[in-house]
Amino acid sequence: MSVSTRIALVTGANKGIGLEIARQLAQAGVFVIVGARDPGRADEALKSLLSQGLAAQSVLLDLNNSSGILAAAETIRAEHGRLDILVNNAGIVDAKDGPPTSSSPDAVRRILDTNFVGTLAVTQAMLPLLRQSAAARIVNLSSSLGSLTLNGDPASPYYAARLIGYNASKAALNMLTVQLAEELKETAIVVNSVSPGYVKTDLTGHNGFMTAEEGAKLPVKYALLGDDAVSGKFVEPNGETPW
Ligand SMILES: NC(=O)c1ccc[n+]([C@@H]2O[C@H](COP(=O)([O-])OP(=O)(O)OC[C@H]3O[C@@H](n4cnc5c(N)ncnc54)[C@H](OP(=O)(O)O)[C@@H]3O)[C@@H](O)[C@H]2O)c1
Repeated sequence: MSVSTRIALVTGANKGIGLEIARQLAQAGVFVIVGARDPGRADEALKSLLSQGLAAQSVLLDLNNSSGILAAAETIRAEHGRLDILVNNAGIVDAKDGPPTSSSPDAVRRILDTNFVGTLAVTQAMLPLLRQSAAARIVNLSSSLGSLTLNGDPASPYYAARLIGYNASKAALNMLTVQLAEELKETAIVVNSVSPGYVKTDLTGHNGFMTAEEGAKLPVKYALLGDDAVSGKFVEPNGETPW
């Protein structure tokens, strides 16, 4: 691998939008590290990339396993010494989530623990490696459902989707984007929240308007932002999203 080859970690890259992000980054010449929590699923995803002649490896990464996250960061440090792109893609929904009057608090806790706390833990663990990059990019896979403004706007198509756990987890993730972008503004690390659109994956029960391939396009664009990169933004395929 050339020293100028960018190195990316994509969490939850064994399927859905994450696998497509991994594929498209690799097709753009990036060396991709497929993060996945299950060894078999990690292997299968890696094989599918390698069989297409793409440059990739996999690392075990479970957002709910703190020591495993640190071990993954250590593996990447030992093998590459830096990270240029972190795509925080892994995320969950829960069938027991719902409106605030009836959602299961345990389900809400699980969702927040994975989508927000787990993502925060991965980001913290990878930051020393991202600081070694000349121009690092962090992409947080958010959702328009995480927009406080749209949740309170009866004219918004997202208004009726009352999932207190999922929506709050993405609002919290957006807070991570805002605060981290501010904290890192004097560094070469750029952080953005990207909503991929409504994408047909396991997470949506294969409902949606876009394929995973289409849904990966905007996250990939933000992972590959050049020297004029913006930081601390919240975007969706139609443009900027209100927080
Ligand atoms: N699909 C949409 O319309 C849509 C819209 C807006 C935002 N998003 C966001 O986009 C991201 C990807 O979603 P998707 O639609 O591609 O969903 P998906 O097909 O269900 O894929 C989710 C990925 O996250 C992984 N994951 C879940 N919990 C994990 C954990 N604790 N540790 C590590 N990996 C974990 C899954 O691994 P396993 O296979 O092991 O479960 C899987 O690889 C999510 O953050 C989602 O919230 C999706």
